[in-house]
Amino acid sequence: MGLKIAVLASGGGSNLQALLDAWRTQQFRNAEIVVVGSDKPQAGALKRAGALQIPTLALEWSKFSNAIAFNQEMALRLAEYNVDVVCLAGYMRILTPEFVRKFPQRILNIHPALLPAFGGKGMYGHHVHEAVLKSGAKFSGCTVHYVDEGTDTGPIILQATVPVLDQDTADTLAERVLIEEHRLYPRAVALYCENRLRIVGKRVHIVEKA
Ligand code: GRF
Repeated sequence: MGLKIAVLASGGGSNLQALLDAWRTQQFRNAEIVVVGSDKPQAGALKRAGALQIPTLALEWSKFSNAIAFNQEMALRLAEYNVDVVCLAGYMRILTPEFVRKFPQRILNIHPALLPAFGGKGMYGHHVHEAVLKSGAKFSGCTVHYVDEGTDTGPIILQATVPVLDQDTADTLAERVLIEEHRLYPRAVALYCENRLRIVGKRVHIVEKA
């Protein structure tokens, strides 16, 4: 049996869908998506998983007294599926250091900007694209990175760029970035599953073959 992948998502799940489509077309060598989890039982991402009969895991955030309790339960539930790697795909909850330490260098995230710029606390969703537009930057893009105990600070695996146009709004920029996210995330997960990533300091080397 190959690597067991869990995907955590809070929203509509278009990044999840890109990963599901890549997996189902055999782009992830020797790996399978075994569970999709969310902090929102009504998340569209869970419906996408359900449509493909993939087990789902919904933990209602408000039912937990604090982030530590929520993350402890999430880690316990993921362990029931023997998860090897956790892919965050529009997951809006900050992971506790305790959770991250349970999956050392085994949590990936996609961020809709070119980290380390436009990342960190409060930099999610449209806030990112608003900040890019306000900065006058000529390019934006997306980043797939390892999750460490910081916020958007883990070693960068892959990045893709898009132009920022004079007439862009947060919506038009978000849409352009999202297209690249759907290409980039499956490529990063495929490299991970092929064991072709080597973390050297803050840099991730992509080796030809494992
Ligand atoms: C994406 O822009 C992703 O970069 C960010 O949240 C958004 C998720 O969108 N983390 P979706 O739920 O995958 O459609």
